[in-house]
Amino acid sequence: MRNLPNDSAISVATAAAAASSSAYPSSITPPPGERRASDDRTKSKSNSPQATQFTPYHELSPEEQAAQDLENEAAVAQAQASIDIDSGSDVASVSDAGYETDSLRSAASTSLSSSVRDFAFENGRRYHKFREGAYNFPNDDSEQEREDMKHAMMVNLCQKLHFAPIGDNPGNILDIGTGTGIWAIEMGDLYPSANVLGIDLSPIQPEWVPPNVKFMVDDVESPWLRPPNHFDYIHGRHTVMAIRDWPKLMRQVLTHLKPGGWFELQEIHHFPQCHDGSMPPNHPVAEYWSLIDQGLAAVGINFKAVLEMADMMREAGFVNVTTRIFHVPIGVWPKNKVLKMVGMYWREILLMGAEPIALGPLTRGLKWSREEVEVHLVAVRKAYMDAWVHSHMPLHIICAQKPE
Ligand SMILES: C[S@@+](CC[C@H](N)C(=O)[O-])C[C@H]1O[C@@H](n2cnc3c(N)ncnc32)[C@H](O)[C@@H]1O
Repeated sequence: MRNLPNDSAISVATAAAAASSSAYPSSITPPPGERRASDDRTKSKSNSPQATQFTPYHELSPEEQAAQDLENEAAVAQAQASIDIDSGSDVASVSDAGYETDSLRSAASTSLSSSVRDFAFENGRRYHKFREGAYNFPNDDSEQEREDMKHAMMVNLCQKLHFAPIGDNPGNILDIGTGTGIWAIEMGDLYPSANVLGIDLSPIQPEWVPPNVKFMVDDVESPWLRPPNHFDYIHGRHTVMAIRDWPKLMRQVLTHLKPGGWFELQEIHHFPQCHDGSMPPNHPVAEYWSLIDQGLAAVGINFKAVLEMADMMREAGFVNVTTRIFHVPIGVWPKNKVLKMVGMYWREILLMGAEPIALGPLTRGLKWSREEVEVHLVAVRKAYMDAWVHSHMPLHIICAQKPE
């Protein structure tokens, strides 16, 4: 359970670093170069899959560390080219009943106008109240846990928090749509020189964070409070389903970056693909994501915007725009151990997310009832476990610079 900042309209949380809740889930090995003081404060996540199977990197012998480094390097290389399949993974259906237990929630659909907690409730899930309805996904505890698992998955796949060349002593950093703030907190830990600001519609960030990290509840699609030419680096991750007007946001980012400053987006294109034809177009998982796309389109979100972001940055006036694509495996089919773990995490994250991802787009956008959504999800959850499907989702890392 997270502590909520007291002032839910504009919340600024700063405090001594000693008790930061920033952490990699204990089952994840922070990659080399990303070791942080807060590692010792790591708290385990209760529903992380196979939470006891992975030994922290610093507890490995030198030989084991060398082997882990090699596996990490191979993972980064394969994820950007072609992922080797573990032929053994096709044999058994890798089924885990634990993945399917939290599908149906008993609470009836209610709407609550609370001025105390500033949250809205719908279809048994909790949503943000500030600018109510702008964002279509919940912010409750299980969703926050899922977001932190996503962070762990991303860091294990990419082996780093960012790709933009921001140097060793960056100054002002902004994280748009910071969510639980886990990326912002780890950036604060990694760069003591930096002032990291995380902005989100939801006041769900921890109170105890490094002294150089602040959070603010605000809408990044509204005018910004900080002056033009202020930030050295602006970052956004998993925000494709959040932003309505990307060209406008990119102009805003350009204005508020210092000349020579960097913008980076880390976005997953949520349309599953495969290199070997093992996922037919009518596979329930492919159909599910197509429905999410339709539902988001109906509420004004371009879910395919990931594919246009680099061009949008160029059109906004950015230079040195580069795109790097990683393939995020779904399931345990990769042969490489790091990618197998990433795939296990990503599938678990998608399974946990089956309901919270679908509810907003399908009920708000396509006007389905909650019951219709739940019935549809039965086949989707089962299909995520199809061991013969070697699917992945492309992760786009797009970096761009404001001209000097
Ligand atoms: C999928 S989460 C990603 C969180 C975080 N970036 C991460 O990678 O861990 C998207 C976040 O964007 C926030 N968001 C959506 N629309 C926003 C807006 N207009 N202004 C600020 N935050 C927004 C949501 O509240 C949510 O926390």
